[in-house]
Amino acid sequence: MIDIHTHVLSNLRSDDGPKDPEKSRLMIQKAAEEGVTKIVATPHMLTPIPERREEIYEAIRALGPTEAEIIPGSEIFADDVVLKSSESLICLGDSNYLLIEFPRAQLPEYTEDIFFDLQTRGYECIFAHPERNGSIVNDPNILVDLIEAGVLVQINAGSILGRYGKDSQKTAEILLEHDMVHFIATDMHSDRNRYYSLKEAVEVAKKYTDRAVDLVTTNPELILSGEYLEPPEPKEYKKRGFWFFRF
Ligand SMILES: [Fe+2]
Repeated sequence: MIDIHTHVLSNLRSDDGPKDPEKSRLMIQKAAEEGVTKIVATPHMLTPIPERREEIYEAIRALGPTEAEIIPGSEIFADDVVLKSSESLICLGDSNYLLIEFPRAQLPEYTEDIFFDLQTRGYECIFAHPERNGSIVNDPNILVDLIEAGVLVQINAGSILGRYGKDSQKTAEILLEHDMVHFIATDMHSDRNRYYSLKEAVEVAKKYTDRAVDLVTTNPELILSGEYLEPPEPKEYKKRGFWFFRF
């Protein structure tokens, strides 16, 4: 398995991962024990930090040999200043994929424009844990248009396992059932959390989609090796008791 969203490195500015490399090693060890072979380290990028790439490489080097391969990446906050500075836009490994996070409560009105702008600058975009976002919880179909515009979707293992409450869990199930998920990742921040299990999340996800295993194997492998991921057609979610029409 491959985990494309983690806060596994220690002591990085604006990140909230483990306190020291020893804790990082514990997190990596736990992941490796359940079959994770590659971990993308995606520290928060909340403000531009010019020497960020070097910081990440240095933190990876400081770990020494690890049971799973650690690949540099970033979780980029969709903020004007951050997005304008190309030095902030650290892709996942050698790919041109960016992991983008939005404010939790609701999506900005210009969300589609943010993705479009990044795409025209040559990047591919992955929307990080939309099932935790108020706008998506209220209307999962917002993702249909984004996916049709080329955006890929990553949900958290913890959402599937109920870590963030019923709304995020239900939304994760809806997204899985409607082919609106392309990756499951842990978004792990520490070595002490029972919800950071890709293996358990995939087992549960199998109830909602036949593609559950691909979401932690084939799909992340494709993007990390720079190949094209052809996503399935997302299905419109129809709330029970209501008819929805798209215009
Ligand atoms: Fe994260």
